[in-house]
Amino acid sequence: MRTWTKEERYRYLKDPQELLALYQAISASPYRQTFHNQAVTGLMNDPNGFVWHDNKWHLFYQWCPWGAVHGLKHWYHIVSKDLVTWKNLGVCLLPDQEDGYDNKGVYSGSAMPIGDKIYLYYTGNHRDADWTRHAYTCLARLGNDGWPEKYPLPLFGSNPDYTEHQRDPKIIKVPGRDTYYMLIGAQTKDKRGCVLVYTSEELQHGWTFAGELKVPGFENFGDMWECPSIEQIGGREVLLLCPQHMTLPGRGGSQNHNGYILGSMDWDSLTFTPDGQFHVLDFGFDSYAAACANNLQDSDKAVLIAWMGLPDVSYPTDEEDWAGCLTLPRELTIRGRRLIQQPLPELRKLRDERIHPEENGNGVYALPRAAELQLDCRKGDVEVDLFTDEEGQGGIKVTYIDAAKEITVDRSGMQTRFNLEEGESRTRPLENGLFHLRIFVDSSSVEIFVNDGDAVFTSRVFPCSSEHWFRVQGDTFIRLWTLKRAVKDQFLI
Ligand code: FRU
Repeated sequence: MRTWTKEERYRYLKDPQELLALYQAISASPYRQTFHNQAVTGLMNDPNGFVWHDNKWHLFYQWCPWGAVHGLKHWYHIVSKDLVTWKNLGVCLLPDQEDGYDNKGVYSGSAMPIGDKIYLYYTGNHRDADWTRHAYTCLARLGNDGWPEKYPLPLFGSNPDYTEHQRDPKIIKVPGRDTYYMLIGAQTKDKRGCVLVYTSEELQHGWTFAGELKVPGFENFGDMWECPSIEQIGGREVLLLCPQHMTLPGRGGSQNHNGYILGSMDWDSLTFTPDGQFHVLDFGFDSYAAACANNLQDSDKAVLIAWMGLPDVSYPTDEEDWAGCLTLPRELTIRGRRLIQQPLPELRKLRDERIHPEENGNGVYALPRAAELQLDCRKGDVEVDLFTDEEGQGGIKVTYIDAAKEITVDRSGMQTRFNLEEGESRTRPLENGLFHLRIFVDSSSVEIFVNDGDAVFTSRVFPCSSEHWFRVQGDTFIRLWTLKRAVKDQFLI
């Protein structure tokens, strides 16, 4: 694996042409996605600033141009009319050089559109000459002409009563209140994850610390909470968070989790009262830093996109100098005590052709590079093997055992195995059995929606040239579509 010097990781981008050769090289990768957003070059991580404005959806992603390394982060801007096809608009927020408040990275944040501007809230990751970290909460204003204007001074610096791990501002307009709220993911001095709340009457100034969010029962849950957010869905409230440096049962050695707690938020006492336990958002392997669109009119639902990747791990494309993509957008609703995640209805537009899978004589079918597979499961055990070889061997195994009422996704059969320490198999109970699977396959990912969004398993996968087959065992009815290209892999910096 390549080692990066500090100078290489934090090199400032001066001229887009510096990236052209890298872009051309990675364009040839068989793992470039066809309907998922991915890093134009280098590394992509969190989705940021997801809003509807000026008749389109705006989304930004954390981007390090130089390679598959968490170095100097920028906000790269993409837009879409329908959340299905996307266009690259180029880099939006660049770190200031030398002594700037964000001299070592424009870190994650959120957005709020007002009038003809989008206000972008982000963390300025500052390092002194001796590499001491300081976190600043910063603001930029993006006009409809696409040019951002950074405010010269941060809205506020870090709170001295916590460690310097303070980041990922989420701006919130609570219906019926004039005050704006901002949540910041943080760490207490005795290393516990928490959320800091700031308030202001104005979006552009006047922000003051209102207190630490109380979440009874979760005072000791990981040592840092990244990307916190509180969403209103179907008249209920959901706290989304990424607790770090803890393990959870059934999730191997994984130290970074993205999950949610249902409950109710009292903005006066800054207390989020849980109504139940912490649930992971995604039962698969590669999903983190999920963000919801900030200004949906319909408060029954929310739309969520996550980074299809994890911190502190590496991926097979690292050697090609790129890594990371985003998940498909998912519509969130609440059923009982669970969040339900379904692919957006608009994603049907991705369908190109319905094909009748032809069996190759070994009980195995060809798996298109970009495909949607739906299975109605009638009764009994089911096994779906994706990315197998021509003989039906290997690949990712999706197994439902009816007697145990459990579904398991196991990726240990792939030729290219990675992040083994995270565990290669995940199981989720299905109290009511399995009746439906909807599976989206792209060049290097698979998203498996179980029982109309009751559970989702998201995984990166790097099939070799012989691993493009699938087979199904059990009493099922299969439908298969090839899918269209939906992201233009365009060199736009
Ligand atoms: C989460 C995260 C954020 C941070 C960003 C930096 O993946 O670590 O907390 O702002 O990534 O890229």
